[in-house]
Amino acid sequence: MAKKYVIQGQKILKGEIEINGAKNAALPAICATLLAPGEHKLKRVPRVRDVFCMLKIMKHLGAEVIFENSTLKIDTSKINKYTVPYELASQIRASVLFLGALVGITKEAEVPQPGGCSIGKRPIDLHIKGLELLGSEITLVHGNLIVKNSGLRGCEIVLDFPSVTATENLMMAAALAEGETIIRNCAKEPEVFFLGEMLKKMGVKIKGHGTDTIVIKGKKKLHPVEIEVIPDRIEAGTYMVISALFEENEVVLKNFCVEYLETPILKLKEIGAEFEKVGKKSFIVKKKPPLKNTKIVTAPYPGFPTDLQPIFAVLLTQANGVSIITENLFENRFLYVYELNRMGAKIDVENRTAVITGPTKLVGSPVKATDLRAGAALVIAGLLAENTTTVYEVELIERGYESIVEKLKKVGAEIEVVEGGIEDS
Ligand code: EPZ
Repeated sequence: MAKKYVIQGQKILKGEIEINGAKNAALPAICATLLAPGEHKLKRVPRVRDVFCMLKIMKHLGAEVIFENSTLKIDTSKINKYTVPYELASQIRASVLFLGALVGITKEAEVPQPGGCSIGKRPIDLHIKGLELLGSEITLVHGNLIVKNSGLRGCEIVLDFPSVTATENLMMAAALAEGETIIRNCAKEPEVFFLGEMLKKMGVKIKGHGTDTIVIKGKKKLHPVEIEVIPDRIEAGTYMVISALFEENEVVLKNFCVEYLETPILKLKEIGAEFEKVGKKSFIVKKKPPLKNTKIVTAPYPGFPTDLQPIFAVLLTQANGVSIITENLFENRFLYVYELNRMGAKIDVENRTAVITGPTKLVGSPVKATDLRAGAALVIAGLLAENTTTVYEVELIERGYESIVEKLKKVGAEIEVVEGGIEDS
C-alpha cells in the first residue's frame, strides 16, 4: 500500500544527522562491477529505492548480491544474461548506465530506451553517439536499444553537453576498449570522479576524471574492487537547508565533503546562514536572519546543482524581496512550485525561470511529490509551515533519501509515516 508523510510544522531541530553515501555515485559503481568478473565490495552504499532497483537488474543478469547495512557485495563471476528487462529498467532512468557496462563484456546487449520523466525529456543521444564512435552499433527495436559490437576501439569523443551519465557510460565502455579514448567536454561531478577512481582501482589506466577531459587506456582484463562510496552532496545540501529553517535549530551534519558543496554553501551564506566546523567532516549550519533574496542559476558542476534548486526555493519563500531561479539543466523542474503555492508561497514560473516573492507564511496542506527532489522540497515546506502538512507519493523521496523520516525524528521533527496514498482515500 502507498504511504504518506504527516508533518507537524515549526518544530525546533537539535541533534546529529549522518550523511549517507551518494546515490548518484553508487548507481554507476554497481554497473561498473560488470566490467570485471569476481567479488566486488562497495562500502557506504545508501539503502534507497534506486539502489534496490539496480540490484534487482544485477540479479536478473546473474550477479550474486549481498547487501548488509551499507556494505554491498556483488559477485559478477556468473553473469549469464545481457538483457535488461523493461519492467525493471522503466522504474529507474539510471538503468541507461547498463549500456556502457554491458557493451564491453558481450557482443550483443539489450537495454530498454529510458522514457522521459516528470522533470524533462531526458534524451540519451550523447550516450549513443559516443558508444557508436567507440565501435558499437545501436538500433532501437520495440523500445529496446540493441547494442552490438565486434570489439570496441578507443577514439576521441567530444560531448555537446557535459552529461553526467553519458560521461559515465563512455568511461565504462572505454575501460575495455582497445587503445586510448579521450572524452572532451565531459561532466566534472564528484560522482564522475569517483567512478574514475573505481575504474583505476580495477586496473584501468585513466586520468583527468573530475576535469573536462578524461583519457582512458582500455584494458582487456580488469579485476574486482573494494571501494567506499563518496558522501551524498545533495543529501547534505538538503539537510543544510533544513538546519537553516529556524534560528534556534542546532543540527550537526556529520561525515560529508564540504568541498563538493562550495557553490551551494556560498549561496546559503548569501541568503543568511553561518557554518561552524565542529569536527573533521562535520558542521553546524545556523540561520542568520534576516534572510535575503538572491539569484540562483543552475549549471553543471561546479555550478549550482539542479538537484538542490527545489530545496533552496523553499528557503527563498522566507527571504525578504524577490528571488529568481533559472533552471538550465531540465525543461520541467518547477512542478513543485504549484504545490508550494497551495501552501501560501508566491512563486511565478515562466519557462525556465521561477520568480519567488518573499517572505510568505506557509500553512500546512496536503501536497504531492512529483519527483525525488520536489518531494524533499515539500517535506522541508512541511517542517517550515504552520499546522499539518501531508506529503503524498513519498516513494519518490525514498528513491534518494535513506531513512529521511528517522533522521528527522531523531532531531525533533514531528513526522510520521502513515499507510494509504491518494488512491486509497
Ligand atoms: C544526472 O542525470 C543525475 N542522475 C541527476 O540526478 C542530475 O540532476 C543530473 O545528472 C544533472 O546533474 C544520476 O546521476 C543518476 P545529464 P543525467 O545527462 O545524467 C541533456 C537526481 O535527482 N542531455 O547531465 O540524466 C539533458 O536533456 C537526478 O538524483 C542530452 O541532451 O543528467 C539535460 O538537459 C535527477 N543528451 C542535461 O543534458 C544526452 O544524451 C543534463 O542531463 C544526455 C543529456
